[in-house]
Amino acid sequence: MTSLFSPLVLRGSTLRNRLVAAPMTTTQSHPDGTPSEAERGWLERLGRDGYGMVITCAAAISKESIAFPRQLSLADDAKLPGLTALATRLRELGTAPVVQLCHGGSRAVPSLTGSEAYSASRYDLPIPGFVPPRELSEAHIERIIDDFALACERAARAGFAGVELHGANGYLFTQFISTMTNHRTDRWGGSLANRARFSREVVRACRRRVPGDFVLGFRLSFEGSGLETGLDLDENVQVMRWLAEDGVDYGHLSNLDLFAASTKAPQATALEHVRGSLDRGLPLMAAGGVTSRARADRALELGADLVAIGRAAIGNADVPAKLARDEPLAQPPFDPRAVADLGVSTDFRDYLTTAMPLSTLGILRR
Ligand SMILES: Cc1cc2nc3c(=O)[nH]c(=O)nc-3n(C[C@H](O)[C@H](O)[C@H](O)COP(=O)(O)O)c2cc1C
Repeated sequence: MTSLFSPLVLRGSTLRNRLVAAPMTTTQSHPDGTPSEAERGWLERLGRDGYGMVITCAAAISKESIAFPRQLSLADDAKLPGLTALATRLRELGTAPVVQLCHGGSRAVPSLTGSEAYSASRYDLPIPGFVPPRELSEAHIERIIDDFALACERAARAGFAGVELHGANGYLFTQFISTMTNHRTDRWGGSLANRARFSREVVRACRRRVPGDFVLGFRLSFEGSGLETGLDLDENVQVMRWLAEDGVDYGHLSNLDLFAASTKAPQATALEHVRGSLDRGLPLMAAGGVTSRARADRALELGADLVAIGRAAIGNADVPAKLARDEPLAQPPFDPRAVADLGVSTDFRDYLTTAMPLSTLGILRR
């Protein structure tokens, strides 16, 4: 079996091990989306911790895409100096730095974007205060594809090893793929091929704009949960297959518990199902509940090539070294003072305790 501590080559990057700092929103960039001292400090801590790859928070690709206050942004060239300093530092620390790119779609925040929220279609959700998004025109869809490609090119110019496109957790890519949020009857909706078209066009446009050694990852929620419905495991396997043809170097399964049985195929986990259905040549990253060496090894056994660590990375420094020694990790809820000492800023701590549904995950002790 693959060892957690064996290197992995992804295009031009050799990852020193299979452990990845999972993308985590921190709401601690400067209000203009440039990395603050706190954001740099946090990501550098993850770099020092020894992960093979560090993925940033979901970052905005344009003003209209912003889904969080104080979100990191790659919306224009003015962001390049801060991003370059960040990527350079992370590379010096021996990790492969990757930016996650996201368009909020219906979850973009009008008070931050200055415009209404748009999505694949107009739809309503049973959430108090939910404002139905406006349906994107075809010209607007093409503009967003360009915005993704330009942001991706900026990540490459800044020296990042790659980008991960955030097609999970209900943001714009998911809104196109899901039958619940995409009711279009043109070439962007209806059949799976049409619902996947937006994701595929973004991947192709990004690939055209970056050097050959640049890594492209794509994160998907293979099965919906909570309010994220209209997703089908086998449909998403096919989407991932297409994305690999279009130039994606790894697929990333987003899950809160990667060890749980799949909803659609409960005899196995979603990861086993996806691994068994896709060509072995496409590396898979998986996240969700990796809190110990045994669980990290189990994720590899279930078919992961890369294991992403989210919550445990907040409350534990040096996770890779601790897992190498099979040392137990601190488990949530973490002591807020202890995480402050680990580089988790006041803004990030506030976000962990106040944002729904994070506040319900009990990451920090109150
Ligand atoms: C504070 C926090 C912020 C998150 N932000 C993002 C994000 O920006 N992008 C994303 O794809 N997933 C995000 N996630 C999900 C994680 O990447 C990960 O999939 C999830 O936490 C499960 O892994 P874990 O059990 O190791 O925490 C976030 C999770 C947490 C706890």
